[in-house]
Amino acid sequence: MALVPLKRRRRAPSPPAGPPGPGRFPAVVLCLVEKRMGASRRAFLTQLAQAKGFRVDRAYSAAVTHVVSEQNSGDEVAQWLEQQREECGAGGDPALLDISWFTESMGAGQPVEIESRHRLREALETLAEEAGFSGSEGRSLAFTRAASVLKALPGWLGTLEELGPLPGIGEHSRRVIQDVLEDGVCAEVERVKLSERYQTMKLFTKIFGVGVRTASRWYQEGLRTLLDLQEQNIKLTRQQQAGLRHYNDLNTPVERGEAESIRRVVQEAMQRFLPGASVTLAGGFRRGKPCGHDVDLLLTHPEDGREAGLLSHVVSWLDSQGLILYQHSQENSYGLREGPEPLGGRDVMDRFERCFSIFRLEAQGGPGAARGWKAVRVDLVVAPVSQFPFALLGWTGSRHFERELRRFASHERKMVLNSHALYDTRTSFYPLRPKKKSSSTWAWSMCPLRRETPEPWAWSTCPPQRPLTAQESPLQPQKWPLLPPVLAASRMFPE
Ligand code: UTP
Ligand code: MN
Repeated sequence: MALVPLKRRRRAPSPPAGPPGPGRFPAVVLCLVEKRMGASRRAFLTQLAQAKGFRVDRAYSAAVTHVVSEQNSGDEVAQWLEQQREECGAGGDPALLDISWFTESMGAGQPVEIESRHRLREALETLAEEAGFSGSEGRSLAFTRAASVLKALPGWLGTLEELGPLPGIGEHSRRVIQDVLEDGVCAEVERVKLSERYQTMKLFTKIFGVGVRTASRWYQEGLRTLLDLQEQNIKLTRQQQAGLRHYNDLNTPVERGEAESIRRVVQEAMQRFLPGASVTLAGGFRRGKPCGHDVDLLLTHPEDGREAGLLSHVVSWLDSQGLILYQHSQENSYGLREGPEPLGGRDVMDRFERCFSIFRLEAQGGPGAARGWKAVRVDLVVAPVSQFPFALLGWTGSRHFERELRRFASHERKMVLNSHALYDTRTSFYPLRPKKKSSSTWAWSMCPLRRETPEPWAWSTCPPQRPLTAQESPLQPQKWPLLPPVLAASRMFPE
């Protein structure tokens, strides 16, 4: 039995019955499926929903109107429902929903309309993830792009035809969309979700410090569970050991309140060493998401250069207070004369001084409440104020939006955007690294004004390349034409 398309499942919800109280939304009674979600995440999500005024029943009954599951196939949820109905001897016809409906509803503070969009996005995101696990970056990007376009649609998608010639959705994605719209599920996606390789890769890549290559190697060596890693004495880096030790906490979403607490703790620590320094919450929280997988903090000071050296003091002090469970830092390696990364090179990474850490946050309810604390991933990034606008733009994400923005800058504006600066390839010379043939060859080929550009051997006499300052940047709305399309792009890729 497959999930019936959500569109067709819309119906008058059954009235709530019995305790607990009806909550703020009497027509909605949630029940969360524990399988794959896990007991602690289920408890956390239950608390989150209750705090927002939703009624969440622990046990299934005919009163349940919305069954929410995570990473289960349609068949699995249908089976679960069948079993529940047998056990409680009651029917009920709840809507079967994936976690994205739940997350959006929590974000909106009310139940959002049940749309096939949730299932469509989940299907495309699963295929994107699978392609990433197989090393097919191009395919992964295509599915991610299609999912982002769907996310940005202003309304309900009833048929494939309604998409028209919308760019960003390729043929394969269209087939998936059609299957989900017509049958409620896409067989290809269901197969992926049930495959042992996908499930194992997902499990391993969720360990902090484990990427696709390591996970894939472990899978090929026959490892399947976290216990296998421990029992078979697999050699782990210090980062992976910490990731494994705090696996459950680090895979429990961080709430905005928790992120704010950590920001405050870091801000207070910074004041001790450099008054006037500021800490800005970036990443998904800056985009308005109610929860995220980590906390991204940008540190700066109004006077350029004063921020240098600050991070090690702050981290040492936090460590001495017992607030840090793991950390490793990376020095600033950005030199203005080096200029931008080659296009298609490091997409997201920047060269700011940075600390990858795990904080020990005093529990504020939710998982870890009984233990008194919870492990939270925190990235601390130090940006000189002159580069701060670019750092903030780069660290606000989403990753996909950033990628599109950079692509737009280069393809449409002949500029190179990264988290440090914006370079205009028509007016700036690229940095001179005559000994490194590949980079100078690249720089040469990027320059549109070839005939006016000195020959490579004369480059050492060129003025040093200077990135545009924030004030000169075409991102400034009044002076330059770049902004409207950028804004348009940000509407396309909001999350
Ligand atoms: P995240 O991976 O934390 O994504 O990176 P997110 O959007 O905040 O997602 P959640 O809410 O934690 O799950 C935040 C942004 O920072 C940039 C990326 O653009 C990303 O979108 N980033 C991340 C970098 O610039 N460099 C990095 O090394 C990592
Ligand atoms: Mn984040």
